[in-house]
Amino acid sequence: MMKLFLLCLLYIQVFSSPRDTVAQQHTTGYVNITEADTSAGILILVNKGHKLPEGYRPGDLVPIEEAYNRAAMNLLRKEAARAFANMCSRAAKDSITLWNRSAYRSDTVQQELFENAVRRSGLKNAEQFSARPGHSEHQTGLTTDINSVHYSFGNTPEAAWLKEHAHRFGYIERYPPGKEKITGYKYEPWHYRYVGKKAATYIYQHKITLEEYHEIIRNQTRKTPR
Ligand code: DAL
Ligand code: ZN
Repeated sequence: MMKLFLLCLLYIQVFSSPRDTVAQQHTTGYVNITEADTSAGILILVNKGHKLPEGYRPGDLVPIEEAYNRAAMNLLRKEAARAFANMCSRAAKDSITLWNRSAYRSDTVQQELFENAVRRSGLKNAEQFSARPGHSEHQTGLTTDINSVHYSFGNTPEAAWLKEHAHRFGYIERYPPGKEKITGYKYEPWHYRYVGKKAATYIYQHKITLEEYHEIIRNQTRKTPR
């Protein structure tokens, strides 16, 4: 009887851990995790397979211009903050009002958000819209959630404007519809990531994700003779 009890305990331990089992890694997408390359600057790739070092915090975070912020989480890296203000100011000329509602988030804050999401929606659903700590690109200081985090935001003129113009300011729609298998997340019409104008324009024109862009760059580097 005791043996059976211990076996049950072991089973629960192995199969209920969110991180450890291979089967669960595959269903959640957290497979073959490597450390994110923080030397890649504004092109850094952070996703389920690329984790930031614990406690990572960019050194050049600055507050977003007040006119374009309505949130406590108002920090972005300097270059991204400047580009965000430029974008919001240009959008205003088209009668489009944009503001930040969540920018830089520490891994501690992300942990709370992820745990709340799991409590609210269950692990399987939460994994489709909330990153685990260390895996959120909000921690890079290069990402902002704009205006609203409700899916209905996708049907607004603001979302349409962003889709069409954000690349001109160096921002990309990071989790576009139809690319869930590549990005690991459901469509998020509000989540924009700064990568600089050159990369953003390429990604926009070729309708690809940051993951695919990195793949292209890697292949080009491999082909270039030394
Ligand atoms: N909502 C995105 C995936 C995040 O939590 O970073
Ligand atoms: Zn976001």
